[in-house]
Amino acid sequence: MITVALAKGRVYKAFNKFLADKGLNDYAEALTDGGRDLFREVGGVKFIFAKGKDVPTYVEQGIADLGVVGSDTIAEKSFNVLNVSELPFGQCRLAIAGPTNLDESDIKVVATSFPNITRKYFNQQKQDVSLIFLNGSVELAPILGLSDAIVDIVQTGTTLKQNDLEEYKTILSVQARLIANKQSFYTKEKEIYKFMQEIEVV
Ligand code: PRP
Repeated sequence: MITVALAKGRVYKAFNKFLADKGLNDYAEALTDGGRDLFREVGGVKFIFAKGKDVPTYVEQGIADLGVVGSDTIAEKSFNVLNVSELPFGQCRLAIAGPTNLDESDIKVVATSFPNITRKYFNQQKQDVSLIFLNGSVELAPILGLSDAIVDIVQTGTTLKQNDLEEYKTILSVQARLIANKQSFYTKEKEIYKFMQEIEVV
């Protein structure tokens, strides 16, 4: 048995579609309409459903052998896990956005759930900004005057558009990644390899 931690939300939906498109119906059906289930078992694989930002922690601690998570999460914080491979889904981007009439050089306060990536970017630009950390619905911040701009995930751009915000610049391209616990990758090599072959990532 191997345990795979899945990031709920965007990555989970994309993974499910990826499995269905490949005709991997046992996995796809087991992962469809999971309701409030915290885990599901299919054959020799136990999937656990975690918050995206917690997936690397479950993998690092050996609770999960593998994890499927957005590369944004891995870029924001370093974890002692194996970065096994990119996965061909979950493409989106981390972008700076704000009101349509704001010049990027006038940004002084930025709201984001990605403070480390954001700090690094503005430091590289030699632009002095204050950061405000938010857990979600970050688009509210410039609309309500909490910040000048945001650094947040953009996928379709619909959320920005619907709220009269504009994307200024992509600072990181994001997609799903497969990560592994360092010990499991060797002790459960055969099972992990079998799963990776099944989902065609090797
Ligand atoms: C993400 C992100 C944006 C939205 C962008 O939020 O924070 O709000 O998706 O997607 P779009 O470009 O396709 O409109 P998510 O739904 O993951 O929840 P959150 O606001 O709690 O982060």
